[in-house]
Amino acid sequence: MHIAIFGANGATGRLLTAKSLEAGYSVTALVRSPQSFPFADRVCIVQGNAFDTSAVSKTVEGADVVFSTLGAKSPFRNENLLPRAVPLIVAAMQQAGVSRIIALGSAGARQDALTKQPLWRQWVIQRIIYNTVLKWPVREQVVQHEILSSSGLDWTMVLPSMLTNGPARGNCRIDGDALPRLAHSISRRDVAQFMFQQIGSPQWVGKSVYISD
Ligand SMILES: NC(=O)c1ccc[n+]([C@@H]2O[C@H](COP(=O)([O-])OP(=O)(O)OC[C@H]3O[C@@H](n4cnc5c(N)ncnc54)[C@H](OP(=O)(O)O)[C@@H]3O)[C@@H](O)[C@H]2O)c1
Repeated sequence: MHIAIFGANGATGRLLTAKSLEAGYSVTALVRSPQSFPFADRVCIVQGNAFDTSAVSKTVEGADVVFSTLGAKSPFRNENLLPRAVPLIVAAMQQAGVSRIIALGSAGARQDALTKQPLWRQWVIQRIIYNTVLKWPVREQVVQHEILSSSGLDWTMVLPSMLTNGPARGNCRIDGDALPRLAHSISRRDVAQFMFQQIGSPQWVGKSVYISD
């Protein structure tokens, strides 16, 4: 199995890289700063930016599965990362005949995210978090969802609540319809584990899925 990873040097990307290597898979990672990448000696590195068409194409070449855990540096400004990078990844995959992508999103990517929350919580999360504090990351994820769902690829977008660096709990709630009631946070370890499991599972192909504590 050959895995391509975008965002491999980020917090969730490192966990996915480690899991892929532990499973004996070969990995190609698009990385901006290989000198700070802890797996540099064990993966094939494409040094570059996710806005660079040729670096993106090189990364997906020959992959069986693509993971993306790309994320903007600051939630407080419009970096326009996913709206620019995800179309390049999709186009490169289509060109190379690679069909499977498993991407990290966020709960705010879908309109129905809050339908299982009490009304007071819907109001707080929508008005204060999604429309204000996390306005830019949520917009990026809405666009990523639109691009992947119309890509024709075998896509899965994983939509977590707030991410933490805590230990894996292993008993997360998974829901295809909405964020589970009173969802608060989830560890990146649990998210990486779930994303990794999707390699061999048809259940969420062509879908997005919420995950939380
Ligand atoms: N934080 C939360 O509570 C939360 C909750 C739900 C969903 N999310 C979503 O989760 C994702 C972030 O996950 P994370 O915490 O694992 O991310 P992270 O640690 O910030 O890693 C993001 C990765 O993206 C890479 N990247 C950014 N811009 C790039 C570019 N132009 N070219 C190439 N690589 C680029 C970074 O590269 P460098 O290493 O070179 O900087 C980094 O490796 C985001 O999409 C966010 O919306 C976050």
